[in-house]
Amino acid sequence: MKYITETERIYLREFNTEDARHIFELHKDEDVVRFTGDKIKTLKEAGHEITQLSGSYKKYGFGRWAVIRKRDESFLGWCGLTYYPDLARVEVGFRFNKKFWGQGFATEATKSVISYGFSSIKLSKIYAHAHKLNTSSQKVMEKCGFTKIKEFEYNDVPVYLYVKKNPDLLIEFISAQETFQVRHPVLRPGRPLETCVFEGDDLKSTFHLGAFYNKNLVGVVTMMKSAEKTENVFQLRGMAVLDDYRKKGIGEELVCHAEEEVRKKGGTSVWMNARQVALNFYMKLGYEKFGEKFNIPKIGAHYKMKKQL
Ligand SMILES: CC(C)(COP(=O)(O)OP(=O)(O)OC[C@H]1O[C@@H](n2cnc3c(N)ncnc32)[C@H](O)[C@@H]1OP(=O)(O)O)[C@@H](O)C(=O)NCCC(=O)NCCS
Repeated sequence: MKYITETERIYLREFNTEDARHIFELHKDEDVVRFTGDKIKTLKEAGHEITQLSGSYKKYGFGRWAVIRKRDESFLGWCGLTYYPDLARVEVGFRFNKKFWGQGFATEATKSVISYGFSSIKLSKIYAHAHKLNTSSQKVMEKCGFTKIKEFEYNDVPVYLYVKKNPDLLIEFISAQETFQVRHPVLRPGRPLETCVFEGDDLKSTFHLGAFYNKNLVGVVTMMKSAEKTENVFQLRGMAVLDDYRKKGIGEELVCHAEEEVRKKGGTSVWMNARQVALNFYMKLGYEKFGEKFNIPKIGAHYKMKKQL
């Protein structure tokens, strides 16, 4: 049994195959799945659910976890994190047995999952959605400090989308010199420090942003105004996140902040020479490839990409 986290009244642990019966009992209750529709009809389906969860634990380091009451080891329900690759976001969710409703367990479990997601997994932000008629769930989101950002249709159902940002992650302006702390190990490993210097780094129109996790610099990006262009076009350069902090949405935060800053400066578009390995990352952020693939010596295959702001 892998233990995850605890609060005063409960602890959370990974599910194992013996929990199929708990999942089955929980998800066959029409009232529990009224707003989510994820009814489970057989014990076999519940077993399949647990196999999928084990995959998520292995792949992402998180998933839905069993919520157990400390006092008597009762299975209360589940609470946890799910990564949605198509949407590129992590959401918190929960289901609790009806007999444990109205006792604050959903809020207590959700708060502990958020805190685990931010401090142990280092996620940049966590999303959640709740059916428009599910006022109890909406209250939990509010008590946990989520901000409602939009209303949309999820599987043909009207829902509110919420987000909460990791308070330990800050995006700040930094100097060209400071970017080297991340540019060097990520973009120029094993090469002299001077190779981290880009022409135009110190121009007044250039700016550098750093992502600080618990005050440590873990990611950087640079925006340079393209001199030869008459319009307000910026080049994105030196995009890098330290290995241990990748796939947590920190890269996305950096690009979004940088674009916001470009907009404030009257910029209308951003382009870059993108490494082939980072194409998906930029495409999810709305960038499009143009031109032919080309090679940069000692670095590898690249494409030009651009985005109209
Ligand atoms: C490219 C790079 C900057 C991205 O930084 P990052 O912080 O990992 O970026 P994000 O977490 O926002 O997104 C990265 C991927 O993780 C996914 N992701 C985001 N949150 C996730 C999570 N919690 N769990 C799993 N995957 C997640 C994103 O969807 C994205 O997927 P994709 O690559 O398949 O498109 C980083 O990988 C890096 O420094 N690479 C080496 C240097 C480099 O190639 N720089 C670009 C030069 S052009």
